[in-house]
Amino acid sequence: MTLASPYLKPGFYDDALARGKHRDIVGGRWEETALHQMQVILDEGLERHDHFLDIGCGCLRLGHRLVPWLDPGHYRGTDASRALMLRGYAEELTPDTRLRLPEENLVEDEEFRFPTLPPTITFALCWGVFTHLPAETLRPALHNLNHRFPHLRKLLLTVFLAPDRHEGPFRQRDGVVTHPNRPPWHRSPAGIGADAAAAGFTIRWREDLLPRGQALAVLEPIRR
Ligand SMILES: C[S@@+](CC[C@H](N)C(=O)[O-])C[C@H]1O[C@@H](n2cnc3c(N)ncnc32)[C@H](O)[C@@H]1O
Repeated sequence: MTLASPYLKPGFYDDALARGKHRDIVGGRWEETALHQMQVILDEGLERHDHFLDIGCGCLRLGHRLVPWLDPGHYRGTDASRALMLRGYAEELTPDTRLRLPEENLVEDEEFRFPTLPPTITFALCWGVFTHLPAETLRPALHNLNHRFPHLRKLLLTVFLAPDRHEGPFRQRDGVVTHPNRPPWHRSPAGIGADAAAAGFTIRWREDLLPRGQALAVLEPIRR
């Protein structure tokens, strides 16, 4: 049976963490990806005083670069595995950087409900997460995000895209083959646009060439 997400395999996190493979859990390409993430969030206008939410933050690939840049305490992360986040906290952050990130800012959450996080969040990134999750998980996550965080200005979201009306597997620009019905999952631009609109966001696609051929969307809440 194919699992909806590779992260759902029983013992997946425990096994990889026991072997010291926390970077592999998030796909490797450590420095290259962190710098790419920094580049796009700064290009989209992130400021040091923003309250940042890294959704599905893993072992702090972005965090190890971003936490020292943001005002202290302004980075928060969620992930399906708190053990993975804490491994990153212990092994990927310098002691000075750890002082800028209270451990309670790393919140286990696999349903995108964002428990215990304050309503102050202004900027969010969700990178390489919905590429592993079925289509129907996105809309409720966006809905929760918009309603939990009334000050949110922007969400940057990566997905795999296949053309509207494409059927079956699709080969991405760098050769990764994605699927409509199993991981790695792809979506149509129209489908992502419909989810964004239903959850109260505008959407704009960036032209960045991202690792593995992911596409990057910028969503902004429509405030009435
Ligand atoms: C490819 S990694 C990307 C990690 C991080 N965003 C980065 O770019 O370094 C995917 C991450 O999504 C997390 N994840 C998978 N399913 C999730 C879920 N249902 N809720 C929250 N996080 C999830 C995994 O634990 C993993 O850390």
